[in-house]
Amino acid sequence: MTEFALQHVRGQFPALDLSVGGRSAAYFDGPGGTQVPQRVLTAVTEYYTDSNANRHGAFITSERTEHVIRTGREKMAALLGADPDEIAFGANMTTLNFSLARALGHTLHPGDEIIITDMDHEANRDPWLDLREHGAVVRSIPMRMPDCRVDLDALRAQLNHRTQIVAIGWASNLSGAIVDLAEVGRLAREVDATLVVDAVHHVPHRPVDVREVQCDFLLCSPYKFFGPHLGVLYGRRDAFDRLPAHRARPQRAGPPEKIETGTANHEGIAGTAAACDFIADIDGGGDSYRENLLRGMRAVAGYEDELNRRLMRGLSDMDGVQIYGPAADDERTPTVSFTVRDRSPREVAEFLAAQGIFVGDGHFYALTVVEKLGLAASGGVVRAGIAPYTAAEEVDALLQGVDDIR
Ligand SMILES: Cc1ncc(COP(=O)(O)O)c(C=O)c1O
Repeated sequence: MTEFALQHVRGQFPALDLSVGGRSAAYFDGPGGTQVPQRVLTAVTEYYTDSNANRHGAFITSERTEHVIRTGREKMAALLGADPDEIAFGANMTTLNFSLARALGHTLHPGDEIIITDMDHEANRDPWLDLREHGAVVRSIPMRMPDCRVDLDALRAQLNHRTQIVAIGWASNLSGAIVDLAEVGRLAREVDATLVVDAVHHVPHRPVDVREVQCDFLLCSPYKFFGPHLGVLYGRRDAFDRLPAHRARPQRAGPPEKIETGTANHEGIAGTAAACDFIADIDGGGDSYRENLLRGMRAVAGYEDELNRRLMRGLSDMDGVQIYGPAADDERTPTVSFTVRDRSPREVAEFLAAQGIFVGDGHFYALTVVEKLGLAASGGVVRAGIAPYTAAEEVDALLQGVDDIR
């Protein structure tokens, strides 16, 4: 942990200066969206001062806008291990996934099957459930309890020659459980199914290589990893080529523009590139930008996991506190959901908020997980997420706060 340059990282986040009732704000709401470093704010501002225009113009600001978009694709491609023309931008993951599902729906025949999971955020369930209108059969794979991880045996049992699409989350935004995606990919390929991965909760916490995973499509959201509110869709070149996307007539028919309906969030793309730069600079010194991104994400993962162990150990020691999800040393992200006996999640969150400690409460759209846990009627869970700007003292303050309300 000592090797992680925490003070250097923290110094880049102006939001850490916020104080609440005389106490510095401690942000454990990263799984809902992280804070952003100054360079992202600067990139967004500079887009407006130096480059603000629509595309395809003969003048300098329009040319700069083309450059911003190209750079955004290049940097996101480097983060995911993809090629720039495999990277599309959209309003957010949910909107892109509905567009993707609607497009893939045209390739289905009545009786074709789609696999989703109980572990997934509803943004990776409802777009596929909607395809039942076209005669698709949608099967949801249960979780293994108590760690809330997708049951791969159940997945194996459901796959068959009618399975056309497997849509699965890489990591749960509620329990932190990480899925063995290499195995899921192998299983999907065995039946020749299209693999769609919701990596929104995975990308902020682990290095990613889409080639290794061999998925067809993968989605993430830069606002979960230090960037602006935006969504990203990776589509493997051949799968993206074949995708019958809905588009306006003048829109380019090839990837990635084919799925980018309307004018993009140019300033958000500029900020996304800066968010990638932030990651690449955490532990720079590699031979390439991609290598620096990987080094940065490895450093983030190592630091976060250690703090997560501190957090989970502290919570586990408290009588009356129940954690949902894998143990600290299992494959998981540093996102911890829990309840406190005789206190609603909102009560806990309000108590902590009054001390400047920001945690989430509710279901976070992982509604099926909360229902399966039997917590839907009681306000869901309290969720605390570690980010690279989280300090050990903040974790201790959170533990003290939970102990106090307990
Ligand atoms: C795992 C997961 N998937 C999908 C989404 C939806 O992302 P977006 O807000 O970009 O639509 C979220 C957002 O919280 C998420 O955590």
